[in-house]
Amino acid sequence: MAEKHSTELSESEQLVLLKEQLARAQRMTALGELLGTTTHEYNNVLMTVLNYAKMGIRHKDEVTRDKAFEKILAAGERAAKITNSILGLARNRSGDFEPTDLAKLVDDALVLLERELRKYRIAIETHLESAPPAKANPNQIQQVLLNLLINARQAMPNGGQVVIRVGLDQASGMVELTVRDNGPGIAEDKLPRIFDPYYSTKKGPDETGKGGTGVGLSACRDIMESHQGKILVASTVGKGTAFTLRLPVAQNISVAGTPTVALGMPTGHALPRSDR
Ligand SMILES: Nc1ncnc2c1ncn2[C@@H]1O[C@H](COP(=O)(O)OP(=O)(O)OP(=O)(O)O)[C@@H](O)[C@H]1O
Ligand SMILES: [Mg+2]
Repeated sequence: MAEKHSTELSESEQLVLLKEQLARAQRMTALGELLGTTTHEYNNVLMTVLNYAKMGIRHKDEVTRDKAFEKILAAGERAAKITNSILGLARNRSGDFEPTDLAKLVDDALVLLERELRKYRIAIETHLESAPPAKANPNQIQQVLLNLLINARQAMPNGGQVVIRVGLDQASGMVELTVRDNGPGIAEDKLPRIFDPYYSTKKGPDETGKGGTGVGLSACRDIMESHQGKILVASTVGKGTAFTLRLPVAQNISVAGTPTVALGMPTGHALPRSDR
């Protein structure tokens, strides 16, 4: 496509540009919000390392020192997980699609939100079945997932449960990710509006600095549409809300650094992922 100056852009081209800018701004906000949460968590990890290092120096016996080293190792591993998840989010700003393991995205999102979810007494249950990789931009889908999890958390200020499920939807042949909460649900008359830009029932940012702009779900929908995917909602007042993402299966896309592999449809049965 030939390059044009901004003055020559048609209205629809300008709209596309503005949407891209909004999406980029939303990514940066999401990253900023998460950095606030995770910096706190990082400090906790660091305190653990310092305290157990002191304990190891004070006590010369082998048992205490072994325990101190184990605690330091575990804290170090957790710190590495947090950094990796943040780096994962900061990486891949290109918008390229690649075979994406949705279960891994779920793991990463939970590392990032673990502390916040614990604080608000949200119990998380995951059912990550073996599904083929999705054709997706992992960074963008991660953002969708984080938006859904933060919405679920905000819907349940007194705690609750979130069930996350990944698997292959046999009917559509697409990879599916569902986030279900047992919060207050969404009234039928409001349900059609939740994907509208700037529609929000929240008073403004909560004490973690999140929420209230009403761009979360509209960005989720834009991202899912750009993936030829779907975002669906089902909600019952008093029972809870479930958001379902559907993405096409990755076929024959090369993973960076590895030869092109055929990532075909899997066999019909889904195995429980006990390794997660
Ligand atoms: N899990 C949920 N349970 C109940 N209501 C929800 C849930 N998710 C979204 N909603 C409703 O949909 C509205 C729109 O959500 P959306 O994520 O687009 O905006 P927001 O969360 O209010 O603000 P933002 O995401 O921009 O910080 C919310 O204000 C809320 O009323
Ligand atoms: Mg939101």
